[in-house]
Amino acid sequence: MVKTILGNRFIPQHPTPKQLEFLLYDDEEARYGGAVGGGKSSALLMAALQYVQEPNYAALLLRRTYADLSLPDALMPRAEEWLGGMAHWHDNTKTWTFPSGATLTFGYLETERDRAWEALGGRQRKTPENDQPGKKTRQAYEMADGN
Ligand SMILES: Nc1ncnc2c1ncn2[C@@H]1O[C@H](COP(=O)(O)OP(=O)(O)O)[C@@H](O)[C@H]1O
Ligand SMILES: [Mg+2]
Repeated sequence: MVKTILGNRFIPQHPTPKQLEFLLYDDEEARYGGAVGGGKSSALLMAALQYVQEPNYAALLLRRTYADLSLPDALMPRAEEWLGGMAHWHDNTKTWTFPSGATLTFGYLETERDRAWEALGGRQRKTPENDQPGKKTRQAYEMADGN
């Protein structure tokens, strides 16, 4: 599994031990906290890129607002830095397509139902960036899920 990270040409940063622990964690849900600048956003991007060599793989990275995705140190510009020239960017769908056919899409909370996710997710700590999804109930997952 380490090969999906260290041998991955789409991941230019060498993970810290904490990032590596997150990337190798094999379960459905993980919470990754820590100070601003601690490497959470890079860890998320690395995680999304771990399996882009697989043709049918599709990753979705969500932020609360478009600004949270697009500000200078946020995920979209970082992905541009990492992937520019190696994968194809579709601006209308905010999706990177990889040579394998795999995709990485960025999304944000736009609709009332999207906001229900947050409302039901309990009080989130307000930090400059919110990497933490907060405490989510099963109901919140169901409301935020699908059409
Ligand atoms: N493993 C790493 N190697 C090199 N630079 C890193 C690594 N992880 C993060 N960075 C850089 O450090 C800075 C802060 O990381 P970031 O992921 O934005 O932290 P956080 O999201 O926790 O605030 C960013 O410029 C990022 O590109
Ligand atoms: Mg961050």
